[in-house]
Amino acid sequence: MKFTITTPLYYVNDKPHLGSLYTTIVCDAIARYKRLLGEDVLFITGVDEHGLKIQRKAKERKVTPQSHCDEISDSFIENWKKWEISFDSFIRTTSSHHENIVNEFFNKVIDSNDIYMGVQKGWYCVGCEEFKDNPENSASTQCPIHKKNLEWRDEENLFFRLSKYQKQIENIINQEDFIEPKERRNEITNFVSRGLKDFSISRTNLDWGIKVPKYNSHTFYVWFDALLGYISAISKEETNNTLNDSLNRGWPANIHIIGKDILRFHAVYWPAMLLSAGITPPKKVFGHGFLTREGQKMGKSLGNVLDPDLLLSRYGNDPVRWFLLKDISLGNDGDFQNKRFVDIINNDLANTIGNLLNRSASMSRKWFKNKTPFLDNKIDVNINEFANKTINKYFSYFDKYKIDLAANEILNFAIYINLYLNENEPWTLIKEEENIEQVKFIIYNVLESCRVIGLLLKPILPTLSEKILMQLGERDADHGSWRNRLNWGLLPLEAELPKPKPIIEKLEYE
Ligand code: MSP
Repeated sequence: MKFTITTPLYYVNDKPHLGSLYTTIVCDAIARYKRLLGEDVLFITGVDEHGLKIQRKAKERKVTPQSHCDEISDSFIENWKKWEISFDSFIRTTSSHHENIVNEFFNKVIDSNDIYMGVQKGWYCVGCEEFKDNPENSASTQCPIHKKNLEWRDEENLFFRLSKYQKQIENIINQEDFIEPKERRNEITNFVSRGLKDFSISRTNLDWGIKVPKYNSHTFYVWFDALLGYISAISKEETNNTLNDSLNRGWPANIHIIGKDILRFHAVYWPAMLLSAGITPPKKVFGHGFLTREGQKMGKSLGNVLDPDLLLSRYGNDPVRWFLLKDISLGNDGDFQNKRFVDIINNDLANTIGNLLNRSASMSRKWFKNKTPFLDNKIDVNINEFANKTINKYFSYFDKYKIDLAANEILNFAIYINLYLNENEPWTLIKEEENIEQVKFIIYNVLESCRVIGLLLKPILPTLSEKILMQLGERDADHGSWRNRLNWGLLPLEAELPKPKPIIEKLEYE
């Protein structure tokens, strides 16, 4: 059984920003966690390339839509590689196998008698690619998200019979685990309880999109096309898979992780479209919060957009991942503050974790011939118990996608071990020959704790985790599965310890 997880398919109006980086890093941590547990993971990401917004952007840049899309799509792939995102499939909605899936899907929806021709009148936000409920019908009305004027539309469109699925959608959204976090469920329940209205799934006068079969002047509405990207992402380009083949390779998705602004599309429109085509809806839709910078919404016009490239070159992968995963509770809004960022990285990663490893490995090398100590009774029951509790809580949080709390468990364990080291002062004890066994005991247990910390960090900070484990001479192949390696007391006795190198640089305020 596959575990299928998706990011949204990002619009290619621009290269990745902090918001897209955030969702992608969250999905990466979850995908890595599931793989470490031995699950067969399918991690899907990609880009949403059609629609008026992209067509206009290309025109503004005086390039063809296709070359614009090629360029930005490449920059997404490049970016995700630089950030070591472990995606399994990257879907572009301009690929031909995606078009095949869209057409095949559309035919199924027609067969269910869910498509009809109608007239769509209303105010449209090109930024959202969405009609807005707007009672005043005033041209000056702006989109609350994009702060741009809405555009009036009055055109013949193909409609999807969403209203037919009222009851079934109610049942789906009432399932305990379908919409998370729970607080976001109300917003969707309210929307659905007002009565679902059919929505238009085609546009006329728009070239940049997939042509609707048999309706030459129509292209598919970008959301209808894009949502299906989750399914074409499963198909294999080379073999030109049909819808059914793709569905057998990892559908339904276990979780779509998206921002709160696009929850309605994923929790209402998408399941209804799938039901119409006789396909099982996804199991869960998780709507995360929005990121601000120093308390302010980020935007080009405000000139305060945080560029992921800059973050990567200035701070590196691990610090940014730690901040996004540990400081922001998935589901809540988060704020990127430079001072807080620097403080957290220096306290948590450089001082609490990095220093602990560095000084304990150095002491062991100094006192035990560059090795871990040799001793008979190696297990400190209290530390062992604390570690087990940490591990259990970590698993239970991670399983509920509470990654911040899982990360905090690691940190609390490291704080506890620092305290243990400081209270026991092996550097004083070593001065008396008779204390040698006690010193070995302390050092062994601290190093073993560092090993467990390194292992627990694996899905969250893959690079830093690797550095910690290498510093302890632990290799991936040692002791079998990740879960097994977390058993206490597996650090080998009298094993060579490489020369310690700082695993993380301290950051300076800007
Ligand atoms: N193309 C659609 C998704 C189609 S999925 C089949 C889309 N793309 S987007 O590029 O505009 O947005 C992608 C994601 O970025 C959304 O989940 C959105 O919520 C998220 N974010 C955009 N700005 C954000 C922040 N400032 N903070 C966090 N996430 C934000 O919508």
